[in-house]
Amino acid sequence: MLPASHRWVLRRRKTVMAKAWGGRFQQETDPRVEAFTESVSFDSRLYAVDIRGSQAHATMLAKVGLISEDECSQICSELTKIGEEIEAGDFQYSAELEDIHMHIESALTERLGDTGRKLHTGRSRNDQVSTDLKLYVRDAIDELDALLLDVQRSLVDRCDQDADVIVPGYTHLQRAQPVKAAHYWLAYCEKFQRDRDRLADCRKRVNVCPLGAAALAGTSLPIDREMTAKLLGFDSVAGNSLDVSSDRDYLAEFVFALSLISAHLSTWCEEWIIWFSTEFSFLKLPDAYTTGSSIMPQKRNPDVLELIRGKTARVMASVPQLLILVKSLPMAYNRDLQEDKLAMFDAFDTVKACLELTPAIVAGAELRREQIASRLEDGFLDATALMEYLIKQGVPMRTGHETVGKLVAHCEGKGCRLADLSLEELQQACDLIDENVYGVLGTQNAMAALQSYGSGGEQPVADRVAAWKERVG
Ligand code: ARG
Repeated sequence: MLPASHRWVLRRRKTVMAKAWGGRFQQETDPRVEAFTESVSFDSRLYAVDIRGSQAHATMLAKVGLISEDECSQICSELTKIGEEIEAGDFQYSAELEDIHMHIESALTERLGDTGRKLHTGRSRNDQVSTDLKLYVRDAIDELDALLLDVQRSLVDRCDQDADVIVPGYTHLQRAQPVKAAHYWLAYCEKFQRDRDRLADCRKRVNVCPLGAAALAGTSLPIDREMTAKLLGFDSVAGNSLDVSSDRDYLAEFVFALSLISAHLSTWCEEWIIWFSTEFSFLKLPDAYTTGSSIMPQKRNPDVLELIRGKTARVMASVPQLLILVKSLPMAYNRDLQEDKLAMFDAFDTVKACLELTPAIVAGAELRREQIASRLEDGFLDATALMEYLIKQGVPMRTGHETVGKLVAHCEGKGCRLADLSLEELQQACDLIDENVYGVLGTQNAMAALQSYGSGGEQPVADRVAAWKERVG
């Protein structure tokens, strides 16, 4: 029997050695510290990219001779099995092992002994976690791009079916000028296109490989960083190991791109919530995407749109969350950075869920043509067209603006529309007006008169619809 003190050492060693960093520690970690510092509860979703990264790393280690080919193939196939077990839900997590990286490595070592203990050669969790995050964000960007394309398609698909509909365009939520309904749909296409472009731009900085920067200073071992980068589909290798350890710029950029997607979605939701109101009555929403009230039997509420609008708050909050996280952090890695994932995952999940619902709502909604048409002559939507007619007749713009302003006031006094005025009344305001003026008065004519590139008129919108069809297929 071992002396009591020795037994204690063995027990201690066993527990302490379970931790990959346990070598220099004399005391067990307080379980509350383990619970406080663990990240596996939220980073386990990195398991697939972690395994991809480790397999590439092992392949490189074998090529440069730091492990044998046989060890490499054992490591790679065991990692695949571990991945399958995690996927199937047959994997045991424990706070003691901190994060997903330690879990996978310790499972590997349990199965392969010393061979497993070689995997972490020439890398650290600091470059590993950033590699994992970049692989994850790269996939996320590709997924979001496809979802945004679906949204764009749903908007473009509406253009033909709504080709005959004119709607008021607003500024300050006051009636301004008439546009084709399709002009609204394509306005959202433009916004979502910028979101796609922004994600593509962010992807360039995401796609620079951190792996091999090791803890902060690189390594004395003869690793081949170009090779791992290539195996993982990165465009290039990050050039400064200190920078790699501390860099989370790509996450801040990514969540900012997510926030603008959310901003665009929230504008769309807000607009449709207003359009769905009895006061506007521009829109019918599909039953499947509205909900009722528990007390008011007549209610049909646009809850999904409200929630997409509401969820914008948490997506946008991820931007300051990440910026505050990295502000003033000294180089290189600091444990603070573990918190980066919480902000990013939540923002990503939220935007993804919103984008997944959007195409069906866009496709399922119907414009209430008669309601829209019945009030289309209200609000002097043709006033700007009349002013532009005067400009074409040689009237200086500011004079034309004032003349039309006076005519509008005159109509308001009489309770009529500009198109209801007689030629004499119009000529009293400006003697350059002739009978052709009736060709621009009225909402339909005012819309048809719009002809500049990108405007809401008949032909310019038709041109853009054709261009968007070409673009989104
Ligand atoms: N779980 C850690 C994180 O997410 C991994 C890196 C840990 N590195 C370290 N030196 N403790 O940031």
